[in-house]
Amino acid sequence: MTDAPPPAVPTAVVIVAAGSGTRLGHGLPKALVPLAEAPLLLHALRGAAGSGVAQQICVAVPPADAELTEFCHTFAEELGDAGPEIDVVEGGATRADSVRAALAALAPGTVHVLVHDAARPLTPPEVFHRVAEALNRGALAVIPAMPVVDTIKSTAPTEGDAASIAAEVVTGTAVREQLRAVQTPQGFDVGTLLRAHEVASRWEPDQAAAITDDAMLVESLGTPVYVVPGDLQSFKVTTPMDLHFAETLVAAQGG
Ligand code: CTP
Ligand code: MG
Repeated sequence: MTDAPPPAVPTAVVIVAAGSGTRLGHGLPKALVPLAEAPLLLHALRGAAGSGVAQQICVAVPPADAELTEFCHTFAEELGDAGPEIDVVEGGATRADSVRAALAALAPGTVHVLVHDAARPLTPPEVFHRVAEALNRGALAVIPAMPVVDTIKSTAPTEGDAASIAAEVVTGTAVREQLRAVQTPQGFDVGTLLRAHEVASRWEPDQAAAITDDAMLVESLGTPVYVVPGDLQSFKVTTPMDLHFAETLVAAQGG
């Protein structure tokens, strides 16, 4: 395990945990779904706090949530003075809204922020360290990413007679070597990320609905987004199969 980079400047982690987990279909908000008997959020919190990169962790939970908030408070008590400050805010209707709510609660003077999905419970500390180090070296935006293993094609709906053959037809094939599958935590200079979210808050609903990460907002400002290696274990729990895979990994590692 690499050591945490020295906290060059005041740094926070935002954990977005306000999603409903529709694709997981568990019946609970996804961050509450248990993995090895602890909610996904608790795994993500332990990972972020254990990495040692931040003085504050701000968690966005579903509106009117009591249970996840309670987990955060209990975790904060367990950490005591030794760990980062843990704050909880109400998330919003979209992931971007949840990020914005958490950014508004960062301690004054925070310079770097790492935005992380609660749905990535097994992100190793090394990934937090790589992102924090790139920020310390001067990046305004940095993402962890993995090479893509599948060939990625674009498609369009079929029309006319072709629709009786299949619903979609291929329109192109991307160059796989240039593609990356992007993970979190994504790291930013706070002022840059606030500006990017402020601009995006005025986007049309269609455009806003297509926001899937924070880096794409910073890209739209023309700011370079640097890439560091992610980790296979930092996969996002999206479907029941992902949860099963996470359970298997934790069991194999003796957890
Ligand atoms: N998220 C959030 N607020 C939202 C939507 C998503 O904080 N309004 C968070 C989720 O809690 C998750 C992360 O963003 O940690 C990534 O989102 P995703 O994997 O899509 O989770 P859900 O939106 O909960 O799942 P689904 O899309 O299947 O409903
Ligand atoms: Mg979602």
